Amino acid sequence: MSNPSILILPGDGIGPEVMAQVTRIIDWYGEKRDLAFDVSTDLVGGAAYDAHGVPLHDDTMAKAMEVDAVLLGAVGGPKYDDLDFSVKPERGLLRLRKEMDLFSNLRPAQCFDALADFSSLKKELVAGLDIMIVRELTSGVYFGEPRGIFNEGNERVGINTQRYTESEIERAARSAFELAMVRNKKLCSMEKANVMESGILWREVVTRVHADYPEVELSHMYADNGAMQLVRAPKQFDVIVTDNLFGDILSDCAAMLTGSLGMLPSASLGAPMDNGRPRAMYEPVHGSAPDITGQAKANPIACILSFAMALRYSFAEGAEADRLEAAVESVLADGVRTADLLGEEGVTPVSTSEMGDAVLAALDASL
Ligand code: NAD
Ligand code: IPM
Ligand code: MN
Repeated sequence: MSNPSILILPGDGIGPEVMAQVTRIIDWYGEKRDLAFDVSTDLVGGAAYDAHGVPLHDDTMAKAMEVDAVLLGAVGGPKYDDLDFSVKPERGLLRLRKEMDLFSNLRPAQCFDALADFSSLKKELVAGLDIMIVRELTSGVYFGEPRGIFNEGNERVGINTQRYTESEIERAARSAFELAMVRNKKLCSMEKANVMESGILWREVVTRVHADYPEVELSHMYADNGAMQLVRAPKQFDVIVTDNLFGDILSDCAAMLTGSLGMLPSASLGAPMDNGRPRAMYEPVHGSAPDITGQAKANPIACILSFAMALRYSFAEGAEADRLEAAVESVLADGVRTADLLGEEGVTPVSTSEMGDAVLAALDASL
């Protein structure tokens, strides 16, 4: 049997810097765990625009549809701020999500014990935190029509449309209930049913799907209250399901609970492919961090943990995913810190590759 295939799209800014550490970890699995992958690399975002004039080449899109999993670093940056909207780096990422039909975006926010002091919240509020945000990723206001900037009378109007079909809500809800079943059987759905028809439908469909998961305790919350509750008492949540835009915002908010945006991984999953694996892309929640690009300061952990999610969700290697997550945890427990995680007296930050070295050493020690 051939090795499972991975397409790596490092992207822009710190994307290639953090992905370089993941490549070393993939190699480690081939050498030390007899778990070899066929890895190919291609361009996305500004890097693809520089080479091809588009943020995602059709050939790259085709490759993404063929592989078992895609790993993406980050896209975007000030260099591309003035580009036409249609070729902005972010469009490449959105095209991947849409054409791969990755409707379920899992964004875990876990507070490692060693980092409980780094959160902007009090330690007791975040210690032991382990929540999972399920963000619908292929629809809503990100993709709804009509959209555009139009002339209206003597001025212009910018239009985006929040649009959800019942089946789109249902499949996202189902994936959240499935996760709730293997976690703590507690799901909170967030929308704004008080002001948006799409929110009313969202609540109705989630409630209907609940009938298939009677063991799960379901609650509904308006998303603005949800944002407040996430910082007031985050441990009240286990799984949260929400739409594309609210999910984007709430997951950045949840990121700070864990100490740094540089810690948060994500998995974007679609329907099963012919081989039974879900179509999937894994990427850190953070962006290309132009303010620290090229300074070897980026924290590679979000990207490394995204590969751990690939081991778990694409390759059915749950024990190896546990091994990698435990390696990260032990490195943090040993006090190894990139610059985004400083705050303790007398700690000198390590570079991106030194954090990679530390995780590899912890993996070796796990054997
Ligand atoms: P950002 O996530 O790039 O950065 C926000 C802040 O967090 C910055 O101060 C940055 O230095 C810090 N940070 C982020 N990741 C870090 C890491 N791994 N280690 C240490 N510090 C880290 O968000 P932004 O500044 O709003 O956006 C910059 C660009 O990235 C924009 O073009 C945006 O569209 C894009 N973006 C891309 C993605 C993605 O590719 N998935 C996600 C978010 C933003
Ligand atoms: C994210 C990012 C993206 C989004 C951008 C870069 C398109 O913020 O993945 O969270 O808005 O979904
Ligand atoms: Mn975001």
